[in-house]
Amino acid sequence: MRKFKVFLFIIYLPIFIFELIIFKLFTIKNSSVSYQSMINYFIITRGWSNAIIHFFLKKNLLKKNKFDFQINKLKKNGYLIKKNFFTKKLVLDLKKSLKKIDGYWIGDKYKSKSKEKLYKKVKAAKFFYTDDDLLKLKPVQEILSNDYLFNIASKYLDAEPILYNINCWYNFPTKLPDKEAAQLWHFDMDRPKWLKIFIYLSDCNINNGPHCFVQGTHLNGSISREILNLGYVRIQDKIVNRFYKTKIKEFNFNEGDLLFEDSRGLHKGKKVTSKNRLMFQIEFTSSLFGNKYNIPSIKKRDCTNNFYKKVTSKRYNYQGIKII
Ligand SMILES: [Fe+2]
Repeated sequence: MRKFKVFLFIIYLPIFIFELIIFKLFTIKNSSVSYQSMINYFIITRGWSNAIIHFFLKKNLLKKNKFDFQINKLKKNGYLIKKNFFTKKLVLDLKKSLKKIDGYWIGDKYKSKSKEKLYKKVKAAKFFYTDDDLLKLKPVQEILSNDYLFNIASKYLDAEPILYNINCWYNFPTKLPDKEAAQLWHFDMDRPKWLKIFIYLSDCNINNGPHCFVQGTHLNGSISREILNLGYVRIQDKIVNRFYKTKIKEFNFNEGDLLFEDSRGLHKGKKVTSKNRLMFQIEFTSSLFGNKYNIPSIKKRDCTNNFYKKVTSKRYNYQGIKII
């Protein structure tokens, strides 16, 4: 079966290369066949294909990056922690503004069909807000305007970063780890290369869903062939423990802390056993080639002056946001 799959995706190679070229030249979106091919080439080549695609599609920086100790650490380990980055005031303002919007429950046992208010009754492992709704919130606009985040992303990607994928969600206690809420080990694979930023809006320790990452598994050739042969799926704890027991990092955070992570490496959020966890997350990518994505839109009158200036003056970096 696996040999047949490899054969199939070698047959797709001309389509894939054609779509890659027209994406680069005319920014024509790729098909789902090419996206599936990208995942399979990643598995077959143990990551090297992504490095080539990233190199081909990225927009180069005008200035060369100087040596940066913390970026080197991020490149080596796959993660970087910044304690107390956002102020208590910003976190509080964001939490307050979230109360004004509704969201969706999602979990293995329940999914909202339409937007719901966040009442006390917990219906699923996760309650999330849409990117369109989040974008209207002033504290969110402040986070998205932060130059430091762009700076780290551009140095890590060695490319002009594109901001996209704006997420915010609560996790609540469940009896079992939830597949829908990404509480089992997995690697992300939506783009050729990206950097995720987790912004903690609540303190997080062993009880309320600490994030776990296998150090170094974001590098080419670092995920074992046995794990990759399982495909693009959720992976059981015992398998990851067998290969990487000593490399598993489990993080505790306080609100306002940041975790930069190349989530191409193996990761999961542990299930919440008490209280809850509120997380805000954005992503920077070197290209939007890959999986389908949503471009949230915002009316000009809903933008702060600073945010409007940033988004309109740096169109390449903010192409994941539309002002109408
Ligand atoms: Fe993930």
